[in-house]
Amino acid sequence: MKNPTTSKSWQRLQGEYERIRGQHMRDMFAADPGRFHRFSLRLNDILFDFSKNRIDGGVFEALIELAREAGVETWRERMFRGEPINHTEHRPVLHTALRHMGDEPVRVDGRDVMPEVRSELARVRQLADAVRCRRWRGASGQPITDVVNIGIGGSHLGPQMAVEALRPYAIHDLAIHFVNNIDENHINNTLERLSPDTTLFIIASKSFTTQDTMVNADTARAWLLNKLDDETLLSRHMVAVTANTRAAIDFGVAEENVFRMWDWVGGRYSMWSAIGLATAIAIGPDHFESMLRGAWEADCHFREAPLEQNIPVVMALLGIWYNNFFGAQATAILPYDQNLHRLPAYLQQADMESNGKGVDRDGHPVGYQTGPVLFGEIGIASQHAFYQLLHQGTKLVPADMLAPVSNYRCIARHHRALMSNIFAQAEALMMGKTEAEVRAELEAAGLPEEEIEFLLPYKVFPGNRPTNTFLFYTLDPKTLGTLVALYEHKVFVQGVIWHINSFDQWGVELGKVLARNILDEVNRGEPVDSHDASTNGLINYYLHLRPRRN
Ligand code: F6P
Repeated sequence: MKNPTTSKSWQRLQGEYERIRGQHMRDMFAADPGRFHRFSLRLNDILFDFSKNRIDGGVFEALIELAREAGVETWRERMFRGEPINHTEHRPVLHTALRHMGDEPVRVDGRDVMPEVRSELARVRQLADAVRCRRWRGASGQPITDVVNIGIGGSHLGPQMAVEALRPYAIHDLAIHFVNNIDENHINNTLERLSPDTTLFIIASKSFTTQDTMVNADTARAWLLNKLDDETLLSRHMVAVTANTRAAIDFGVAEENVFRMWDWVGGRYSMWSAIGLATAIAIGPDHFESMLRGAWEADCHFREAPLEQNIPVVMALLGIWYNNFFGAQATAILPYDQNLHRLPAYLQQADMESNGKGVDRDGHPVGYQTGPVLFGEIGIASQHAFYQLLHQGTKLVPADMLAPVSNYRCIARHHRALMSNIFAQAEALMMGKTEAEVRAELEAAGLPEEEIEFLLPYKVFPGNRPTNTFLFYTLDPKTLGTLVALYEHKVFVQGVIWHINSFDQWGVELGKVLARNILDEVNRGEPVDSHDASTNGLINYYLHLRPRRN
């Protein structure tokens, strides 16, 4: 299937949309007591409840048909088999190889890559153990107390999200810091509290050319050399993770300290590689491998489950249902677990850098909506920030809510309140509150009729606002790995149905090129007139106002 909108299943879905758009989920639940069981799935202890969606059996069947007609199963096998489905860069897409626990080979250009994948994982294990057991010593013989990951995008968001999510599994006499912003405040704020003697830098960059990362890496190297009087001592305080080994060595990273990644793993899919070094140091290699195993279990589920019982396939189809038929332009990720506070940011890159595309696989402009705006925040905090819009705004914003049944250090008073909120909010978004219910409430409160009439319209909740809920026993490394991989595969399925390449990112290039040109102008310091009037005006105002030393 090329253009999905010309498919039979899409036409059928148009009809299903017209049929169901006016129906309320409140009535769907009332009419079908078995709805929750019909529209929920399990993977290990992960429950995926998708019953609070504007679907019924007919819609669900048509959505599954869309996935089948789009060839999701064929494309899935093409990905796992290492075909160059990233066709504009002529590359396979094999982040799944990084967590492959089976014995069968994974081939790239006919060569089994599993030996080198497992060799790098063993190196990650070795370094993580050495740092955590204090065998790895700095130039002055002291153990490492602080690890600073310098990277951006997929070289930052994945490890940062995982380190934060798995805090309970981390040792606490070793601090992990993340620097990604080229704004000097970021690295200054981080280093001002650290000592070169006890700091290890991880320069994480697949290309080893990203300006943000290289400027920070230069500053880190200078900070070290300011204390270490011998460049060879850098090897005790700096490692690199990259697909560009030569560039890392030229930068001054000892060759034995360079960890490899491969061009058949996209940056935003690389947290399972040595890009996850900071994660492995934080939580230990055993927990890191448990996270890989969780992702592997999601891969097996995605590869083996029938489409209608396939969690990432259902996640993807529901997203397309609202994005392409209900006209929803955004989707929200609302974790209720505080340790998942970086998950929305991670999924923003995974989703929006993958499917924020306007040209299809054949080079034609798409005539339909593709990737949505994905945002999110901890659910509890969001209830006091943007839930007003979710409940009573004019926009339909489908949301995923996620919560653990139990925390690592569970305090019942906190956790029961937390869980009550996630259940209540999903119920309120779905059920809403009718005019009759509001009137009864205001009358019971004894308000005068005039005040009731005045307030009534403001207190009605339309409801019918869809949510998916993920519940799982606890946020352990394996569960995190499974959840993240499920979202990766959701993005993949949507890309297949939208007939786009989810694995290149040409859209990030223009800004980078323009920034390099403007940096040259800013360094020259002369007034500019080479741009549009706004850009000229902004640059010249900056040049006029900035202190000489800057
Ligand atoms: O945002 C563009 C991008 O290339 C991402 O895809 C990538 O994760 C990030 O920049 C960092 O790239 P690198 O790891 O090569 O420094």
